[in-house]
Amino acid sequence: MIRAVFLTALAVVFFFVIWVYNPFVHKEKYEVPQQYLKMATDVSYAKEGKQLFEQNCQACHSIRYDGVYIASVQANPNLKTLQEKYGKVLPRNVYESVFQSDLIGLKESFGKVPPDLSTMYLVKGPEYLFAFTLEPQKVLPGTSMPAVMAGRPEETAKIVAYLKSVAEPSPEEKNKRTLMGVSVIAYLVVMGILLWLWRGRVLKRMGLH
Ligand code: HEC
Repeated sequence: MIRAVFLTALAVVFFFVIWVYNPFVHKEKYEVPQQYLKMATDVSYAKEGKQLFEQNCQACHSIRYDGVYIASVQANPNLKTLQEKYGKVLPRNVYESVFQSDLIGLKESFGKVPPDLSTMYLVKGPEYLFAFTLEPQKVLPGTSMPAVMAGRPEETAKIVAYLKSVAEPSPEEKNKRTLMGVSVIAYLVVMGILLWLWRGRVLKRMGLH
């Protein structure tokens, strides 16, 4: 009985940590005005944000998950041929080997290849992305990323909303995953109870109970 209570408590704590209070999730220390944070996390700005990305960021950054490649690659007729073969999202090794010279060109200019931003939202979170994009030098002193969005917080927030829309699964997908998680847990609980009852019966039949 004590063991059952203990195990249940352990399970409750486990799921609490995973779902409610997750200490492994990125904690932010960047002060972002509420109005911009709201925009940066609102994917209804994603479409506008994508256009702003194309105008301000695509010279250096790709978003492979959305089939968006750096400008010089996007202008290369080879891209279309490759996309016909592999689909909109090229495998990373194909992209990096075929367009190596484009990426090396950027590396020569900026000291490193500007990273692909497909999953940056999941890694860094909205506050960091907003603060860094608006004022790169302030957040990462010495960085070679130019302050292309200086003085344009609203447009910066929209770009972050676009990055969110690319990185996160769609709401339907999220619902599906939640349902799946809940079903698995419900299944385990029901099976656990049935096994417990069955164990009791077996023990009784053996005369041990
Ligand atoms: C002229 C090239 C250039 C443009 C344009 C540019 N970036 Fe960058 N970006 C870089 C480089 C180079 C780095 C790597 C910087 C470093 O690690 O010091 C970088 C890094 C980043 C990072 C990663 C920061 C980190 O903590 O590692 C993010 C996020 C980013 N850029 C977002 C953007 C966004 C959003 C835009 C458009 C508004 C943009 N960049 C436009 C060159 C560029």
